[in-house]
Amino acid sequence: MVNVIVRGLNRVGRSFPWNHSEHYHRWILRNLPQRRGPALEVGCGTGLLVQRLSGQFDQAVGIEPDEGMLIAARSRLAGIGKARVEQLRLAEVAPPPPGFDLVTMVASLHHQSLEPALQEARRVLAPGGRLLIVGLWDVQLRDPVDLALTLATWLADPVVGFLKHPRGPRPPKYDPGMPLSTPHEAWPELKAAFAKELPGSSARRRLFFRYTVSWDKP
Ligand SMILES: C[S@@+](CC[C@H](N)C(=O)[O-])C[C@H]1O[C@@H](n2cnc3c(N)ncnc32)[C@H](O)[C@@H]1O
Repeated sequence: MVNVIVRGLNRVGRSFPWNHSEHYHRWILRNLPQRRGPALEVGCGTGLLVQRLSGQFDQAVGIEPDEGMLIAARSRLAGIGKARVEQLRLAEVAPPPPGFDLVTMVASLHHQSLEPALQEARRVLAPGGRLLIVGLWDVQLRDPVDLALTLATWLADPVVGFLKHPRGPRPPKYDPGMPLSTPHEAWPELKAAFAKELPGSSARRRLFFRYTVSWDKP
């Protein structure tokens, strides 16, 4: 019976697909720091968040290793003087002194090695700068919070999809195929890494298989 319900919900969900990571851009925009000099988006994909940040910061820089994504992001950002994308990894970034006022990672942390990526984010931030992460974790259905969030997500996913795209999905103009990766860390490992590398950060699991972390560099 449970299987039938899950298969049915998955089928309905697939009829109204929508982007769970982009959904959390609103959380990023609600939690911006006061100082708005340079901002860095790590693993910027097609550059939508870089575009959004360019309206709020003096400079918005996206970094992205994938060729197809770079083309898509550069095409999106052409003509926006305050925004640019570079083919770099975080460890290669030379921040403008004294550092970035904001670093974001939306669905890109699980593509990187966890602790080194958090250390690099700390390095490129200016003192007083803010790190905002929207991430994915390895959901464990034995964990009661993971289980409750998964059930709520299955129910809410098609409803939100329908509300966003009542006439079904619209095909993108250029779709190079988003590089995907499976998250390897379960929530306890992630929490431990955030406590160690980002002391005082606030980390929360949320709907749609995403967590958020906010941390201000002292
Ligand atoms: C789901 S997309 C993120 C999209 C974007 N952040 C957004 O909010 O719309 C994940 C991106 O991370 C990029 N990525 C893969 N390996 C990476 C790495 N080592 N460092 C940074 N980004 C990486 C992928 O190429 C992909 O574009």
